[in-house]
Amino acid sequence: MMSHMADANLMEKIVSLCKRRGFIFPGSEIYGGLAGTFDYGPYGVVLKENVERLWLGMFRDGRDDMYGVDAAILMNPKVWEASGHVAGFSDPLVECEKCKRRFRADHLQFKYKKDKNGKILEDQEVWVCENCGTENKKREPRQFNMMFKTHAGAMEDDSATVYLRPETAGGIFTNFKNVVDSLHPKLPFGIAQIGKAFRNEIAPRDFIFRLRELEQMEVEYFIHPLEWEQAFEEWRKMMHLFAEAIGLPQNMVHELEVEAKDRAHYSKRTIDFEFEYPFGRKELWGLAYRTDFDLSAHETNSKVELRYLDEATGEKFTPHVIEPSLGVDRTVLAILASAYREDDMGADVRTYLALAPKIAPMKAMVSPLLKNKPELVAKAREVRAELQKIHPAIAWDDNGNIGKRYRRQDEIGTPFCVTIDFDTLGEKPELKGTVTLRHRDTGEQERLTVAQVAGRIRAAIS
Ligand code: GAP
Repeated sequence: MMSHMADANLMEKIVSLCKRRGFIFPGSEIYGGLAGTFDYGPYGVVLKENVERLWLGMFRDGRDDMYGVDAAILMNPKVWEASGHVAGFSDPLVECEKCKRRFRADHLQFKYKKDKNGKILEDQEVWVCENCGTENKKREPRQFNMMFKTHAGAMEDDSATVYLRPETAGGIFTNFKNVVDSLHPKLPFGIAQIGKAFRNEIAPRDFIFRLRELEQMEVEYFIHPLEWEQAFEEWRKMMHLFAEAIGLPQNMVHELEVEAKDRAHYSKRTIDFEFEYPFGRKELWGLAYRTDFDLSAHETNSKVELRYLDEATGEKFTPHVIEPSLGVDRTVLAILASAYREDDMGADVRTYLALAPKIAPMKAMVSPLLKNKPELVAKAREVRAELQKIHPAIAWDDNGNIGKRYRRQDEIGTPFCVTIDFDTLGEKPELKGTVTLRHRDTGEQERLTVAQVAGRIRAAIS
């Protein structure tokens, strides 16, 4: 088997598989696309939903101290003034003197020019434009706000400006009081939300890694200020458990303690969870201690009190916040990149996705050996219906020969294929009622009863 890290073309292969098998397509493709946008296709959307369902189970529904919201994407612009995003959510930007292409200054490699004797000229720092090759002098970057603006209502003047939210967190902080007033939760408690966020990234790149329209799974966990370190540790462990649950190899996930100068304006401590993507080790998720920055800022700006009264002690204070923030798209990409496998079969290469059965879009595929034999088709339909009692995502595939069907399901990451043949119907009496179960990762096949197959699938996805 080929090691995925050794393959320089891995990203190309993943992008191609995603398109070929209906996982992910370029956004607005028939019009030439729109940079930084992608659409999830039939299998991609199920994979993404499985990731989100698992997250909801672990981060919200499996806990007594968590609540959900689904806030509006368009919010009063004062939200983003208070949160600091209008003033500070910007990237440092430089422009190539020749082709005018813009780049993030913090992504550039600078070098010193040398004179004709090879002596380094320390006052002449330059960067090379990756678009046209021009050597540009290092200059002070300009700040470029990354929020998308639009207008609410009939007027298009500044008074009607609204922003597409740059993080889902905003809709959680603004609902803190609503949740407290309606459900009366006791601290510590958290609010979880999954939803779209928008960032006008200067250089969207690396497939679904850096997008302009992205999806986040975020928790704001409200605590007494003295409890932040303990809560930070708990969520840190939870994020590792989630990485394990979705099948990310533990040795590909790394923690990076973010230095003060690189932290977001609201954070007193941040750990980036980095993943070994094919294009390098990059941020997958973030865990931040946001202090009382947001609730205090919203209280000051809205003039609505956002403090919490501890009825047991009589203490009234502004809760502090621990925020585990997970990008859905980066998670999906990490899953795809770590699951991609190629098996050299001699005559050709077998490609498959070694997805954890829990998140695989299809749990199994059922197939009649021949599609023009009604008795095989009827039995296969019956077996599929039986297996769908365990999970509805049981694919049906009777297209092409059985080898082609297996290869197709391998690329979709379907862990099991179940084939119904004449022995199932009793051609060999001792095999009556049995089917062939094929395993995706090894290609091995075994003869089992339908009840045994059901047991295997149940065990794999539970
Ligand atoms: N509420 C905190 C927050 O938004 P962030 O580090 O800016 O913090 C959190 O973003 C997560 O959202 C990142 O760790 C990443 O998973 C995802 N994310 C951020 N920008 C992204 C982009 N342009 N494309 C895809 N995912 C992105």
